[in-house]
Amino acid sequence: MKAYRASLLWFAPHHEGPPQALYEEDGLLLVGPNAAGLQVVQAIGSWRELYAQCAQVPVEHLPGRIIAPGFVDLHVHFPQTNIIGSPASGLLPWLENYTFPEEKRFASMDYAAEAAGFFVDELLRNGVTTTLAFASSHSTSVNALFAEAQKRSLRLITGLCLMDRNAPADLLNQPGSQVDATLQSLLDSEALIQQWHGKGRLGYAITPRFAPTSTDAQLRGAGELAERYPDVWIQSHVAENLHEIAWARELFPASRSYLSTYDDFGLMRERAVYAHCIHFDDADRALMRESGASAAISPTSNLFLGSGFFDYEGADRIGFGYGLASDVGGGTSFSPFHTMLAAYNVGREGQTKAGLSLSPQHLWWQHTAGAGRVLGVKGTDGQPLVGNLLPGCEADFVVLNPKATPLLARKTALASNLDELLFSMIVLGDDRLIERTVISQA
Ligand code: GUN
Ligand code: ZN
Repeated sequence: MKAYRASLLWFAPHHEGPPQALYEEDGLLLVGPNAAGLQVVQAIGSWRELYAQCAQVPVEHLPGRIIAPGFVDLHVHFPQTNIIGSPASGLLPWLENYTFPEEKRFASMDYAAEAAGFFVDELLRNGVTTTLAFASSHSTSVNALFAEAQKRSLRLITGLCLMDRNAPADLLNQPGSQVDATLQSLLDSEALIQQWHGKGRLGYAITPRFAPTSTDAQLRGAGELAERYPDVWIQSHVAENLHEIAWARELFPASRSYLSTYDDFGLMRERAVYAHCIHFDDADRALMRESGASAAISPTSNLFLGSGFFDYEGADRIGFGYGLASDVGGGTSFSPFHTMLAAYNVGREGQTKAGLSLSPQHLWWQHTAGAGRVLGVKGTDGQPLVGNLLPGCEADFVVLNPKATPLLARKTALASNLDELLFSMIVLGDDRLIERTVISQA
């Protein structure tokens, strides 16, 4: 057991209505092992009410610091770290000119292993403790990233990027000695599920890159795999860019919409997370809600690539799940603060339509408890285990120093309520605000 005395930020259990942040100026967080030996939150609340429980427990006092849940990044590309900040006229030229040439390099185990070390360092430096990540179309990259995450005890979900057409030949999934590339990619995915899924804090995601780079046979196979492994995740991209949508409609004309293509192949359900979800109609939104699939909103990427603005009003009116994501390397930052600020700016677009804007509590929730809910890592009582610091949650958290820069110190000192404090950190924060990232250890 160990206790921390600091200011504490966490979220009330989910219920109808807007998410509610909880804040304790002089708080106590008690962590200790659960039945499986993993460090989890044992108690959280005010120091005055809880300190008696900690008589025999070492207490680390962190005056002036705020402990908050580790951030959850719902969509990030591990092999795109090097191409962050590569300008293009839009998604498809960006993929062709920067993304595909870089991802080819991940066929090399040495290249992938070095990049995995850097990638995980960067996540942790930025306070990200849970990720749903894309690897490349080579098993080497999946193995490299899982191995690195396992070494650090990081909660990480990833999978082999499925692509059997419309990409450079050496980036397409490779055929086996007896079988074609499509079948081999599905066999490789299944072997990786068996090797990694559920091992410690790791999970597997069936990962068709996006419909245009898969044949019908590959999407069908991915759907069949999903049916056989109902607790693995599914991740892909959808409705990000108008040229991409036109292409997907041409390739899959029988489907009602681009999104429906995934449904037609059995790829929509709980634990299916689709990046972007910008250019939707209400039938798409209803399909998201009814299937239990969720959106990974990636506002820095959407602004950088000129893709469009996620429609928060539409999502809330119909009612499907979503959370925030960096989408590095289309996204421009690993920092959850940069992503939350970009989401605020994107939310202004909907404000003009519906009179709503995103509150700082809501933005923070989208990158922590809200994103954790989307991932569906749950305890036996059905409550999410990541993205929050309620008792029972895995003890992944950040220690924030609100005086990390002169301007942060000046601005946060002026905050007269929780919203002002959170907003100051969202607008001015970056990796300097993260003094420490603590990962739950087994
Ligand atoms: N659509 C298909 N692949 C990608 C990718 O790597 N990044 C983004 N942003 N969109 C995609
Ligand atoms: Zn992406």
